[in-house]
Amino acid sequence: MKVGFSKSGVPARGALAVIAFSGGKLSKAAEAADAKSGGAIRRAIRSSPRFKGEKGQFVEVLGPSGVRVTRFVVAGLGKPAEVDGPALENLGGTLAKRVTATGDTILSIATDPIGGSTLSGPEIAAHIAYGAKLGTYRFGRYRTTEKEEKKPSLTNLNVLTANPAAARRAFAPLLGIAESVVFARDLVTEPGNIIYPRSLADQAKTLAALGVKVEVLSAARLAKLGMGALLGVAQGSAHEPYVVVMQWRGTTASKKGPIAFVGKGVTFDSGGLSLKPAASMEEMKFDMAGSAAVIGVMRALAARKAKVNAVGVVGLVENMPSSKAQRPGDVVRSMSGQTIEVLNTDAEGRLVLADCLWYTKERFKPRAMINLATLTGAIIVALGHFQAGMFSNDDHLAAQLTAAGNGENERLWRMPLGDDYDREIDSEIADMKNIGGKGAGSITAAQFLKRFVGNTPWAHLDIAGTAWTYKDQAVVPKGATGFGVRLLNRLVADNFENK
Ligand code: BES
Ligand code: MN
Ligand code: ZN
Repeated sequence: MKVGFSKSGVPARGALAVIAFSGGKLSKAAEAADAKSGGAIRRAIRSSPRFKGEKGQFVEVLGPSGVRVTRFVVAGLGKPAEVDGPALENLGGTLAKRVTATGDTILSIATDPIGGSTLSGPEIAAHIAYGAKLGTYRFGRYRTTEKEEKKPSLTNLNVLTANPAAARRAFAPLLGIAESVVFARDLVTEPGNIIYPRSLADQAKTLAALGVKVEVLSAARLAKLGMGALLGVAQGSAHEPYVVVMQWRGTTASKKGPIAFVGKGVTFDSGGLSLKPAASMEEMKFDMAGSAAVIGVMRALAARKAKVNAVGVVGLVENMPSSKAQRPGDVVRSMSGQTIEVLNTDAEGRLVLADCLWYTKERFKPRAMINLATLTGAIIVALGHFQAGMFSNDDHLAAQLTAAGNGENERLWRMPLGDDYDREIDSEIADMKNIGGKGAGSITAAQFLKRFVGNTPWAHLDIAGTAWTYKDQAVVPKGATGFGVRLLNRLVADNFENK
């Protein structure tokens, strides 16, 4: 779907969406369309007593007279003073999805400045377009026999605004972010026979075109570095592991260390010899969603030339059972020197992250380090698919992350850490074991990671429940969500740029 901006007015083709507010009050553009069509919009609203102009409410007028558009879609937006970015994005996403099911190929959305909103006219237009872009995401690569009439019909979205040039300028960075979310979603949706450590590393390399410095560390290099925890996970797979290091230098003014993002990139998690049950094992292609989010946010920062120094480190491995696979009970030595008794080969993500976190801390001395991982099923038990679990050793960083998540509707709920939980992973024969007791599985996993971050301000986001959605949402269609890209991009924009 192509997105463009043009001057206000009733277009000559396609569908036209207009906005109404609480109480059914029409926007300026809606009034104009109403006047041109002999009052068709007001009549439609009067005929739909349940339409109150609230968010998520719609009324349609098919084949209105006096104009050449196929239909009017009147979209409710609630109270003008409460209109924010996410509300406009939801509106754009929902509208585009409605119209793409009708067969219309062109949708125009008429916008005006909203009295009482903190967003300017061009920003309003840009956020609507941004939401439409995110909401109409679809992974179609492997469909070859789908009938034309089942395919989404929309090819062009035109946002109408008084100042198209300013809207285009406001949209440019949002488009960079949206394309990065889409990039992450594509990587997560791709199956394990297409995305494996080498091919995922190759995808990360494409960021070089945007000015990101990308290094790919081979298995031999990882062995030299002493990454025994990560290598132990990889040893059962025919695919060699890689660690990819991405650096974005957006400023020379900052004397502080970079902000660092670290991602779990298990391209397929069979569980290893502690094999997972067959039911739903296919879902474990998304066990690299943490690394996809890290690659995605690095891409977004580069796309909008963020004035920040950031590094992204992803540990790419496949967790498979084989005669070469690590055994339950094996003891491995991590890069930090700490030894780990691997009691369950399915608790592999923490082993990969242990070495990636240590490496990142030692090499870059980051001012803050945030890791993302589809780490535990237990976080889904705790929080469902609505919020990701956050664990942090730094209240300030945790507060910044919470705020960024709220602003982007990628919500985080802080979970506890503590010595009692930490003792759960003490081992009888090594420095630690890779699983805790029966309860608090997400917390003992976080305690494990904490043993590899030293004093670095750090947060761990357990995105096992939010990396994939089983429900279609306005800007997040069913499937891979790209969770974390928007959140971390905003964390940087609000707290780390020019600072
Ligand atoms: N990748 C899984 C976690 C997961 C489970 C993510 C379900 C998304 C949906 C992780 O590697 C894993 O297997 N964790 C185990 C840990 C256990 C063995 C201590 C789990 O959660 O069951
Ligand atoms: Mn696992
Ligand atoms: Zn896993």
